[in-house]
Amino acid sequence: MKNSSPLARIVALIFVLLAAGLMAVDARNESQSNQNNKEALAEINKMIAGREDEPAEQVFKNIELLKGRKASRLPGMMSALTGLLGVDCAHCHAPREWEKETPAKQTARKHFDMLKVANDQLEIQNPGVTCYTCHRGNPLPQPPPASFRPTDEMLKQSDQDKRPAEEVYKNVQSLRGVPAGRWMIIMTMFTRSLGVDCNHCHVQDRFELDDKPAKQTARKMLRMVSAIAREIYKGPTSINCYTCHRGQPRPVSLPPQALMK
Ligand code: HEC
Ligand code: HEC
Ligand code: HEC
Ligand code: HEC
Repeated sequence: MKNSSPLARIVALIFVLLAAGLMAVDARNESQSNQNNKEALAEINKMIAGREDEPAEQVFKNIELLKGRKASRLPGMMSALTGLLGVDCAHCHAPREWEKETPAKQTARKHFDMLKVANDQLEIQNPGVTCYTCHRGNPLPQPPPASFRPTDEMLKQSDQDKRPAEEVYKNVQSLRGVPAGRWMIIMTMFTRSLGVDCNHCHVQDRFELDDKPAKQTARKMLRMVSAIAREIYKGPTSINCYTCHRGQPRPVSLPPQALMK
């Protein structure tokens, strides 16, 4: 994987998504929307019939992600997307105008790029971070619970010490320039987002030490989130530790076993 081309990686990712999405689809109730998705898939399978091995861009009109891959890959990928995000085809497509660009379709392409940035930065391989890591079968990822938000009292206090953190603490590498008053809000956000305590990342009462691997990992995570902000959002992003971690030290890549019947 390390040396493979960017496209090969995206395509490898698509296969993981495929497996995950199909499992999620299986687990959903036989609802009206499922029925609609099935009919739409039957329709595109007809478009492909006899041309399965031709490149996707010859059979379809507006292909970027699947360029150079077999047309027969497309239905599986589309089906996977509906399961991973818990949506209908119509969430991303104008009915019967599959090639037309929509905001959701463009977001989906952008989020494929985001997976690549995240997995490259973390140097992890398939499955790694997938659409499911953040979406968990929902069109929009869940924001942190309201109870995670700093209280007004904490915010008021945090405004008081505006010195850069590196003037106050001993070993600040990633968060240089952050006002010292905000420090404990950030550390509390780390602990709540991962469902751990301070000692998961710190040697008790020696916060400046880097002995715990989790502290180094947290620095890597901070780099990854800034790469996403810079390269994908071109500015501030709503992606935070909670978006992937959801109160657990290790995020989920694929739907749980229970859904994989
Ligand atoms: C989360 C958004 C999303 C969902 C849900 C989704 N698609 Fe897509 N679809 C896309 C994207 C993105 C592309 C472009 C793929 C590429 O660039 O290779 C696409 C492309 C297509 C194309 C090729 C159109 C052309 O001529 O270029 C067809 C056909 C299609 N989708 C059918 C479906 C069907 C059927 C479903 C439901 C089972 C579905 N899609 C669900 C995002 C989605
Ligand atoms: C790191 C977390 C993360 C990952 C991974 C991720 N998304 Fe998203 N997605 C979000 C967030 C946050 C939003 C809300 C809008 C925004 O900030 O872009 C969103 C919104 C969307 C939307 C718009 C939904 C709507 O109803 O407006 C689509 C479509 C989408 N994502 C598709 C995907 C697909 C497809 C994948 C996998 C290729 C994926 N996302 C992976 C975080 C993620
Ligand atoms: C997920 C890991 C993680 C958790 C949990 C965590 N921290 Fe940190 N902490 C870090 C990282 C990473 C740094 C260094 C940041 C940098 O390099 O800019 C740090 C730095 C610090 C520092 C500065 C030490 C110095 O002198 O350099 C203090 C103080 C601190 N944390 C306190 C806490 C407290 C109190 C808690 C619990 C409420 C906590 N941390 C929870 C990761 C964590
Ligand atoms: C895009 C998704 C994503 C985001 C956002 C994210 N993480 Fe992670 N995190 C992961 C994944 C995936 C792993 C597992 C890494 C592995 O397997 O190598 C992980 C692992 C970790 C670990 C190691 C946990 C352990 O087992 O001790 C720490 C610590 C951590 N993350 C901290 C953070 C912090 C702090 C933030 C916010 C600054 C954050 N993460 C944001 C995806 C994410």
